[in-house]
Amino acid sequence: MDNILRGKNIIVGISGGIAAYKTPQLVRLLKKCSANVRIALTDGGTHFVSELALATVSEERVYRSIFPPADTTGTDYTRHISLGEWADALVIAPATANTLAKLSAGLCDDMLSALFITLRPGKPVLIFPAMDGQMFLSPSVQRNIATLAAQGCIVISPESGELASGQCGTGRMPEPESILSSLEEALHCTAQDSAFYGKSVVVTAGPTREKIDGVRFISNYSSGKMGFAIARAAAQRGALVTLITGPVHLATPPGVTRLDVESAVEMHGVAQSFFKSCAIFIGAAAVSDYRPVAAIEGKMKKEMPEIELTLVKNPDILAEFGIQKAPGQLAVGFALETQTGLDNARKKLKAKNLDLIAFNFFDRKSSGFEVDTNIITLIESDGGTTELPQLTKYAAAGRVLDAIEKLFVQQAGINP
Ligand code: PMT
Repeated sequence: MDNILRGKNIIVGISGGIAAYKTPQLVRLLKKCSANVRIALTDGGTHFVSELALATVSEERVYRSIFPPADTTGTDYTRHISLGEWADALVIAPATANTLAKLSAGLCDDMLSALFITLRPGKPVLIFPAMDGQMFLSPSVQRNIATLAAQGCIVISPESGELASGQCGTGRMPEPESILSSLEEALHCTAQDSAFYGKSVVVTAGPTREKIDGVRFISNYSSGKMGFAIARAAAQRGALVTLITGPVHLATPPGVTRLDVESAVEMHGVAQSFFKSCAIFIGAAAVSDYRPVAAIEGKMKKEMPEIELTLVKNPDILAEFGIQKAPGQLAVGFALETQTGLDNARKKLKAKNLDLIAFNFFDRKSSGFEVDTNIITLIESDGGTTELPQLTKYAAAGRVLDAIEKLFVQQAGINP
């Protein structure tokens, strides 16, 4: 990927959480990519990272208050507006519970919250909440996150691991490298010259539920996050995205057409109707391979000491598309495997006639089901592999899409 950050105007908003100590490193990385960086630091943030350190690495004064200092002249009186106009993107990392509440309510009593509402429409805002695990799960924080996501902000959930309290939970801010990749993706996505522009893309996401009876089902731990991240990133690159999803608790990414299904058979039925018309089919869903031969009517009684469940194979949606795709159509899959699963992933790529498969680990804690990060190895049909570092699912989605763009370019070379 070209250096999309070169010459871009980036505002880094820093609020008062322990993860703020990592932000000089983020600013350094941005500067290395030749981005122009301005910093908005909240009062809380000053307890965790010094203004001097941030000013030194950014080579700019740090903005805190909307009220200008006494020696202010000219446009400095309205800096909260000019900064909002200047920015190509705003990254808020870490975003504390307090800052999320202020942003979602539209309060603006410091530079960060004020410039947030003066930012130009369409400019990406990436928010990285980071806090104690219980705080993160609290209804008010979740409500504020949902409000900001509905406004179009890209809210990237924190990672799990050891927290400042010494307890383990979900609340850690991603590493600066991962934040940088997410920002690159957000900026890349706004480019109209993407090979995805105007293309019809179908993405499957989430788990499927296979009914045993009226109240029970067979399913898996897929949260839909990977598929939703792919759908969001593809839509931002200008694709016409249809997202076919099993039952998940995620908001629909902006600009994406969402079709909800429950079982593999339903997902298959809906997906089939796009087989002829779509340019790219991306299977990120964890489709149940088997379903009970017939669901029992009502609620199964518990008197029997044991029961036998006969399962039948579900249709393989991606394989069906892969095998019947026309020249010019691309089929992309995911393979959730153990550490030693690279060969299995290769076999799936071949058996399903895919152009690309993303092999991700299910036995590493920052990869696979439910978490917000993934560790992917991309395998192309010619056998070429690319190992990606641990990235947020959003950034990983961008790398998968970059690989697909490369395939388009190769294809265009073959069929000019
Ligand atoms: O949803 P998350 O919590 O974010 O987790 C993401 C994920 C781990 C589910 C995702 O990254 C992933 O790996 N999805 C594929 C899971 C898998 O291993 O699928 P599979 O090996 O059973 O199938 C391989 C490919 O065929 C997949 O692209 C799958 O969508 C597709 N498939 C499989 C079976 C089937 N009946 N129909 C299909 O389309």
